[in-house]
Amino acid sequence: MTLLKIARMGHPVLRRPALPVDSPTDPDIARLVRDMADTMLDAHGVGLAAPQVYRDLRVIVFRVPQDRAEDGEPEAPRGLTALINPVITPVGDDLALGLEGCLSIPGLRGLVPRYRRIVYQGVTPDGTRVERAAEGFHARVVQHEVDHLDGILFFDRVSDLADIAFDDEAHHLVTRYQPASEG
Ligand code: NI
Repeated sequence: MTLLKIARMGHPVLRRPALPVDSPTDPDIARLVRDMADTMLDAHGVGLAAPQVYRDLRVIVFRVPQDRAEDGEPEAPRGLTALINPVITPVGDDLALGLEGCLSIPGLRGLVPRYRRIVYQGVTPDGTRVERAAEGFHARVVQHEVDHLDGILFFDRVSDLADIAFDDEAHHLVTRYQPASEG
């Protein structure tokens, strides 16, 4: 198992757009994905993007824990997903506020608006094309990770600085949480 160092907010690697991967099935990419997965799980994260481990490449790993799935959310993929060159398309313009953290911003959380529904595409390390519809937490984690590939941190999406709190104070933010009504 290889654990990679995680870049923290302030390091320029987190602010640069990452480069497309020319050869998704390259063994170097497979190794990177394995190491990113080990690093994410060791840090108890739900997602990690390559710039967070100092690699300027459009690669993400994520998982959707069953207990994080929101009511009415279609079944999210089990286990871990690794995606190369992911692309997101919002479905509708319905936004939802939700609490997010980031392994590059340890100790802090914020309320972040995200598209409630998206479709995303990408390639897995074995070269398989993936296209999935996602909602709720699943859609949120993919949007958070793809933002990293464009040099965007969740802080940038928080609309009010009062919506940022330390982990152990974040329950106060949840009282401000206004789930968008289901149409
Ligand atoms: Ni993050």
